Amino acid sequence: LIRCQSTSTEEPKTRTLLDNASNLLTNLLSGGNLGSMPIAEGAVSDLFSRPLFFSLYDWFIEHGSVYKLAFGPKAFVVVSDPIVARHILRENTFSYDKGVLADILEPIMGKGLIPADLDTWKLRRRVIAPGFHASYLEAMVKVFTHCSERSILKIEKLLEGEDLHSKKKVELDLEAEFSSLALDIIGLGVFNYDFGSVTKESPVIKAVYGTLFEAEHRSTFYIPYWKFPLARWLVPRQRKFQKDLKVINDCLDGLISNAKETRQETDIEKLQQRDYSNLKDASLLRFLVDMRGADVDDRQLRDDLMTMLIAGHETTAAVLTWAVFLLAQNPSKMKKAQAEIDQVLGQGRLTFELIKQLKYIRLIVVEALRLYPQPPLLIRRSLKPDVLPGGYKGNKDGYAIPAGTDIFVSVYNLHRSPYFWDNPNEFEPERFLVKRDNEGIEGWSGFDPSRSSGALYPNEIMSDFAFLPFGGGARKCVGDQFALMESTIALTMLLQKFVVELRGSPEEVELVTGATIHTKNGLWCRLTKRSDIH
Ligand code: HEM
Repeated sequence: LIRCQSTSTEEPKTRTLLDNASNLLTNLLSGGNLGSMPIAEGAVSDLFSRPLFFSLYDWFIEHGSVYKLAFGPKAFVVVSDPIVARHILRENTFSYDKGVLADILEPIMGKGLIPADLDTWKLRRRVIAPGFHASYLEAMVKVFTHCSERSILKIEKLLEGEDLHSKKKVELDLEAEFSSLALDIIGLGVFNYDFGSVTKESPVIKAVYGTLFEAEHRSTFYIPYWKFPLARWLVPRQRKFQKDLKVINDCLDGLISNAKETRQETDIEKLQQRDYSNLKDASLLRFLVDMRGADVDDRQLRDDLMTMLIAGHETTAAVLTWAVFLLAQNPSKMKKAQAEIDQVLGQGRLTFELIKQLKYIRLIVVEALRLYPQPPLLIRRSLKPDVLPGGYKGNKDGYAIPAGTDIFVSVYNLHRSPYFWDNPNEFEPERFLVKRDNEGIEGWSGFDPSRSSGALYPNEIMSDFAFLPFGGGARKCVGDQFALMESTIALTMLLQKFVVELRGSPEEVELVTGATIHTKNGLWCRLTKRSDIH
């Protein structure tokens, strides 16, 4: 029965019958103790009146760490537990694909790593992941500092225009600034293209934002009307979306053809040992094109680049936004961060080696990711029937799920779970230094900083899947170290020069969510030069 149901050519009805039968079989084989999952019954207004992840949190506290959420004909299983997350993301990873997320992203990212089918994913992950090697990351430090300097310079110029007699402050939407900075960095790091968006606007930049906007619209719109045959011609926003996609695709095609014309084919080991400090083009595209034996058509390369452009842009901008939001409410922690910067850097420049000494700044970055994970939900769909562990306080024998079950792993809930964190809603970067044993939670090995295996930043391994800022298992983010170093450098360089305050109260900063958690109307801040304060 299990073999039969996994063939995708069966009629859907037959498949449902077979799924149910195989679930029954799974249940019988396990001794028949599988529990029925708690069901959350929320009003539809819960889903639309505020970001979904807030409602998912309330239901988690009410129904436990594995529950079913049904709205309309659709149902999702919501997971808020490290042991269950570990099962789905690492132990049983190939029994799940990206489900709804792949449906939404496929028109934008094609066969890029996020929506790709498993066969394509295996091939591309094998060549893309080695591209983020140590020398590449070291070379990226220069890109991160150079781009951050442009942002700092822009703020300094704005400050120069202020009234000399008053205490000089400038008001800025820092979320927008971080978005431009992250776009410039991802363009240079991934395909050696300078968007220059910190200082200018261009059709390509507009098209990137248009595409991101559409991806967000699709992820929050209930009926996928864009799939109707004529929608791309008849619906104005869909026409605009197709136009934006074409602008970006043409730009990427040009970059790919340039990279191919100047190709210098080399073995992967030699590529990783190149002298990156002297390379004019250290980008990931260069690496992918030059790698011997990794020939691939232009379409696939374009999908890979588009995926990284989208996956690596808004996410990093959001981390910086929330780090500043949290620091601005905690002036003593901002002072502590600045004292570290003064001690390690003074007025000097950042290098790869110095990042290792910026311990507190690194903890601020990960604490911002704990409180505001990007994305707040990981999305999966089961490819075959499975038995999920019961989770904290759930049914001890677990819950059977049929093939085709849509799952949200709520990283937001995991990161703010009162069962796994002390003071879960407080901003306490220091928490990552303190060991926490499993306190009788069966199957979870606790939080132990010494389990880091030399990593610079806390990760899912030392928390045994209670902290999942970059996911975990085979589908873990390929750009995690890139993003962490980028955020550390950008934050350090901002705090080296400026004191940041919120313009209004924290409550005025409304949250909205699509793929990432962002603000409704920007993160409006007041910046003062530190040298003007002393
Ligand atoms: C996957 C987070 C930056 C490229 C992921 C996943 C998470 C994540 C949680 C796993 C998704 C899942 O399991 O469904 C973040 C955060 C970032 C960031 C928080 C910034 C702070 C980047 C950057 C890049 C990147 C800079 C590229 C340069 C990717 C790709 C995947 C991915 C390609 C798919 C991996 C696969 O399926 O094999 N990211 N990411 N990300 N990320 Fe990131």
